[in-house]
Amino acid sequence: MNDAVANSFFSQPVLPKAEGEDLTRAVQTLRRRTGIVLGEHKLDMAARTLGLHTHRLGLNTVREYLSMLEQNPSSAEWDRFVSAFTINHTAFFREQHHFKTLAQFARGRDKPFSVWCCASSTGEEPYTIAMTIHDACGPSESGLSVIATDIDTQAIALARKGVYTLDRVKPIPAEFLKKYFLRGTGKQAGMAMVKPLIRNMVEFQELNLVAPTWPLNQKFDAIFCRNTMIYFDKPTQTQILERFVPLLKPGGLLFAGHSENFTYITKALRLQGQTVYTVA
Ligand SMILES: C[S@@+](CC[C@H](N)C(=O)[O-])C[C@H]1O[C@@H](n2cnc3c(N)ncnc32)[C@H](O)[C@@H]1O
Repeated sequence: MNDAVANSFFSQPVLPKAEGEDLTRAVQTLRRRTGIVLGEHKLDMAARTLGLHTHRLGLNTVREYLSMLEQNPSSAEWDRFVSAFTINHTAFFREQHHFKTLAQFARGRDKPFSVWCCASSTGEEPYTIAMTIHDACGPSESGLSVIATDIDTQAIALARKGVYTLDRVKPIPAEFLKKYFLRGTGKQAGMAMVKPLIRNMVEFQELNLVAPTWPLNQKFDAIFCRNTMIYFDKPTQTQILERFVPLLKPGGLLFAGHSENFTYITKALRLQGQTVYTVA
């Protein structure tokens, strides 16, 4: 080993790591703020992540980092803390059968037709919804809209851009890709961009599902809440589902993720199709 290598090896900073009471406090803080319940198997990752954030801010201990957060309820650091623990896994046309149901449903409904996608992550799901309803109903003067919300501001920023690698857009049927995407050139080579026609149908905003109020002032024909309830405990799931009910127009649909069964959680909803619910 030469000296340069030895130096760089020995000069690696020793990162602080959350342990014991500090780790428990961090897990509780995350749960209070987001509803997310971290499982045992995530604790080691959480301990290291908290260490990285502590180090980045030049603080010495995770305890100091948590105190800094708690003393500054509106600090931008909260966004980084939350983003570090959200799981943003998503895809275009994920659980494809839902989009067949949505297309048929949208065709038969009065316009304006609006959808709320309540955990929109990096945008693949709301753009899939927008393409589906546009294709099903045809161009419509302000008649079709999607409100896309998430707690994770970093994911929302990516979603707003509407730019994806060619690999990410592979699940999109060829005719949709042609109709609704532009292929990047120059610096954007290897990327696909959502056309303004679709991007303008989707309005992104930050929304925390466990916040006491939601900044929404309309009712929806459909709500997509897929692959998100699994991170919350049962009482939180029940509360959120029951808050969806008055936001659905008569006959409106709630779409759930493939492993989520809402009939065990509330009597306010009944199953109408494969992981699709309506008000009971
Ligand atoms: C696994 S992704 C699901 C994305 C998409 N719905 C899908 O099925 O492909 C879960 C999303 O839930 C969001 N999330 C977690 N807690 C949330 C909360 N309290 N309020 C709003 N969104 C939340 C995360 O930021 C993440 O983007």
